[in-house]
Amino acid sequence: MKLCVVGTGYVGLVAGTCFAESGNDVICVDNQVAKIESLRQGVVPIYEPGLEELIRRNVAEGRLAFSTDLGDAVKKSVVCFIAVGTPSGDDGGADLSARSAGRWTATG
Ligand SMILES: NC(=O)c1ccc[n+]([C@@H]2O[C@H](COP(=O)([O-])OP(=O)(O)OC[C@H]3O[C@@H](n4cnc5c(N)ncnc54)[C@H](O)[C@@H]3O)[C@@H](O)[C@H]2O)c1
Repeated sequence: MKLCVVGTGYVGLVAGTCFAESGNDVICVDNQVAKIESLRQGVVPIYEPGLEELIRRNVAEGRLAFSTDLGDAVKKSVVCFIAVGTPSGDDGGADLSARSAGRWTATG
């Protein structure tokens, strides 16, 4: 199945990689251009046991890709998972502003 994961952090990168390892075609999207460029070059910004190897293998086998183009990723996907950050504010509430920081609809 074609999937995209929006937000390539601790949750999104691990989930997207595991979805790819399970045989899905996955695009991991982030709005941090430097992070996506690093991942494309094989530099993994977080440590999880075995993650780097899983990323390398799934990229090499064509099931895992990284992008900053949200609209393109959504258009190419049957299911999209949102895993952007929602840090706690001073009042303990979740800051949901990241969800509106990108274009969440794809046209065409
Ligand atoms: N990390 C955990 O252990 C954990 C556990 C349970 C729940 N969660 C929840 O999962 C969600 C993600 O957490 P995380 O730890 O992966 O956060 P994170 O900060 O590691 O990653 C979030 C990513 O989203 C990207 N992002 C932010 N706004 C974006 C946008 N508009 N478009 C594209 N990318 C965008 C950021 O650049 C970042 O790379 C949060 O809601 C968090 O509360 C996390």
